[in-house]
Amino acid sequence: MDFLKITGPTKLSGEVKISGAKNAALPLIAMTLLAKNEVEISNMCEVVDIKTLLKLLENLGATTHLENNKVTINTLDLTETKATYDIVKTMRASILVLGPLLARFGHCEVSLPGGCAIGQRPIDLHLKALEQMGAKITIKSGYVLAEAPNGLQGAHIIFDKITVTGTANIVMAAALAHGKTTIINAAREPEVVQLCEVLRASGIPIEGIGTSEITVYGSDQKLIEIKPFSVIPDRIEAGTYLCAAAITRSELTITNVRDDHLEAVIAKLEEMGLKMKIEDTQITIYPCETIKPANIITQEYPAFPTDMQAQFLALATQADGVSTIEERLFENRFMHVSELQRLGADIHLNGNVAIVAGNSKLHGADVMATDLRASSTLVLAGMIAEGETQIHRIYHLDRGYEKLQEKLVKLGANILREKE
Ligand code: UD1
Repeated sequence: MDFLKITGPTKLSGEVKISGAKNAALPLIAMTLLAKNEVEISNMCEVVDIKTLLKLLENLGATTHLENNKVTINTLDLTETKATYDIVKTMRASILVLGPLLARFGHCEVSLPGGCAIGQRPIDLHLKALEQMGAKITIKSGYVLAEAPNGLQGAHIIFDKITVTGTANIVMAAALAHGKTTIINAAREPEVVQLCEVLRASGIPIEGIGTSEITVYGSDQKLIEIKPFSVIPDRIEAGTYLCAAAITRSELTITNVRDDHLEAVIAKLEEMGLKMKIEDTQITIYPCETIKPANIITQEYPAFPTDMQAQFLALATQADGVSTIEERLFENRFMHVSELQRLGADIHLNGNVAIVAGNSKLHGADVMATDLRASSTLVLAGMIAEGETQIHRIYHLDRGYEKLQEKLVKLGANILREKE
């Protein structure tokens, strides 16, 4: 197992190119199950989660080829409709194959994703919506068995809670269903928007894209032709580099970004005193001597993203005053707090609210990554900690950040990747 050795404190400088969004790419890869042609997708980030989903498709009989951030996927000769435990257990987002497999074949088996470090993360809303579309669902031996022998029927679905992968799953299922599906309380995340846009460009009429009410007119189980397209930039990776610049008090230019996807993050950085110049597809952020404390609440898009909570928590340890960070989406998403405390951060947890003291002098220590975004917050903190920080279990980082260590080293960080 690899670990990162960071020697701080660090200043960064230069330019970093943001990769394609992992969370957009995952549903888009699952969507290729609906295609009648080989699909070509560019700006594909080459991270472990993406490779895991491609492996899952290969196990079903698809052929895939990923090289130079471009992937081709052919699902025409699929032989299997069972997504097995060994893959699904490593990545919850594997559940994204449930909707498209069921819509195309009228039956499938997908392993239950199981527990997750950041909370329970059930899939009840996905299953309930598919049942409303006429699917018969049973849970047996840890698998979701789904059947709809005559195809799925359009339905009027009201999600009790906003769910990102749930919305994506149902949009894909609805694309091949018979008739019209309306999803109320749909997720509005840019990743869901891109999925809808690609489906619409492939001949599936979809209304209300980017709103909380999406209507999809199904193709009566006819497969669709998907033309080549490019994945949107990763807004969470972009936000992470903005925080890296802010916390190390450096000037950094991030390129290949969509600032319109980062409004809540940019607004919060501005509130904390950071100045930025936004031009086209790049953002330059400038060093700020006095970082102001902030009050942050994570919510669904377009509000402040839960996937940026951990990074802002690290930044808040350097603010001139007390910040509060409230996590509203996942009940157990503060595991990075105890690791940040090992580095010297002064954080008090009160239920789902972190109270961060600010003005903390951090010192290098051994810490453990607990989930994907928690890993990046430890890298941010490690870069400003005096001395050596070793971050263990960085496989979490490899799941979602493309070449994080290489990119930061190019910007001037002192980070080595070593074997335990
Ligand atoms: C996606 C993102 C993840 C991000 C999260 C919230 C991907 C691959 N992952 O995760 O990075 O942190 O959105 O922005 O895109 N819920 C239920 N029942 C369900 C589904 C969800 O109760 O059937 C709950 C969850 O426990 C959570 C909330 O709804 O409290 C939101 O979860 P959801 O939007 O589904 O998260 P993911 O799609 O798993």
